[in-house]
Amino acid sequence: MVTVGIWNEHGVMDEEFLFWDNQIFAQQIGLAWPSVERSTPSGTRLSRSLRSGKRIGQRGEGCRNVPSSLLATRTFLEPPVPTHYLTKDIGAVTYTPAMSDHTPTPLAVTAVDAIEHVSGTYPGQRRVHARGLCFDATFTPSGEAASLTSAAHLGSGPTPVVVRFSNSNTNPTVPDGIRAGRGLAARFFLPDDTTTDLVSVNIPVFFAATPEQFLELLDALEKDPGTGAPSPEKVKAYAAAHPSAAAGLQEAARMPIPVSYGTARYWAIHAFIWVDPDGGRHPVRYHWEPDTGPQELSEQEAGVKDPEYLAEELLRRLADGPVGFSLRVQLGKDGDPTDDPTKAWPADRPEIVAGHLRITAPVTDQGHWAAQVYDPTRITPGIELSDDPVLAFRSQAYAVSYGRRTEGN
Ligand code: HEM
Repeated sequence: MVTVGIWNEHGVMDEEFLFWDNQIFAQQIGLAWPSVERSTPSGTRLSRSLRSGKRIGQRGEGCRNVPSSLLATRTFLEPPVPTHYLTKDIGAVTYTPAMSDHTPTPLAVTAVDAIEHVSGTYPGQRRVHARGLCFDATFTPSGEAASLTSAAHLGSGPTPVVVRFSNSNTNPTVPDGIRAGRGLAARFFLPDDTTTDLVSVNIPVFFAATPEQFLELLDALEKDPGTGAPSPEKVKAYAAAHPSAAAGLQEAARMPIPVSYGTARYWAIHAFIWVDPDGGRHPVRYHWEPDTGPQELSEQEAGVKDPEYLAEELLRRLADGPVGFSLRVQLGKDGDPTDDPTKAWPADRPEIVAGHLRITAPVTDQGHWAAQVYDPTRITPGIELSDDPVLAFRSQAYAVSYGRRTEGN
């Protein structure tokens, strides 16, 4: 796949085109001129076709990508007449103004260095959540959120989504049958050709209240050269120094081993702020509830599973029909902390079901999707970031990881 940017004399990209493969690219820059039937996105407002190729970006923006389920046949007739070419797939590191500042700060570089120091480096891979698989899905809102947020995908729909399920490990070959983090990252393709992400894991609270605490934890997790394992004493000392982190550490220690990626609960952890059509602001926290209810394996059952059973199981399950999750949203009250991902809100806070996710099939272009960055600060009008410092920091750390993995490091 190739993206081509057309740059003006001021150094600003005016147009950007997506070509699904090099053959089409060659044809469309003039090395061949046949009228060819190609699969291109259509049928949603995502796709605004120019004379050829697919216009996927606007001035100052970058790549937009489209789920393969939306692919339909279109005829290309003419080559574009661009002024300059940039023949490099730039993935998804393009950020809207609404996003947190993703410029890697020294702290973000230090954090990714520390992750590598503790967990190792696997060239070309995400620094965590390295193993994953992407799926086409559709999100249908329930209508319950419409008076609380003007976000397009939560008001009307359905909205196309690409979901990435992942294991949290840095090493992509760690077998599935262990207690470990699992991720569900979702990218929603909105009617105005923008996207928004929702990134979630299988624990409800985090184990560090700030980026600095996260670094302290990584320090505590450094392997003792004598035992080859992290020192329990250091982790205990971390928990003692940061009592609010204890809940997240306990959740991490008892993470379920899921029967399926499709039978786990996933929490987005941070608070976000919904902004309603009248400008009212509502703190919220999201989680995905599987239609099956949570189902987990015992350690004994998991021990005899294939090392990659989670992907295989989900593909088999999807052959029998879609896999679904409800998007449940907890509504905070005044005084509920929005700046601390280690602290749950009181259990009696009301919850609504904002909509339903229906996962249908693996995307056809796993390589393309593996390159994307799912960024929790990629929000959309109607949703704002909370004052949680970890939330803003993640965007920077993800950009560092993206930079390294796409440079082959
Ligand atoms: C200081 C806090 C954190 C740091 C430094 C951090 C770091 C990272 C990095 C470097 C990546 C790889 C990004 C990429 O190359 O695309 C990543 C991915 C991920 N993180 Fe975090 N993370 C943090 C907190 C969290 C939290 C609180 C959650 C819970 C929602 C989370 C969930 C995920 C998931 C699900 C992925 C995989 C996304 C995908 O499938 O592309 N992370 N994280």
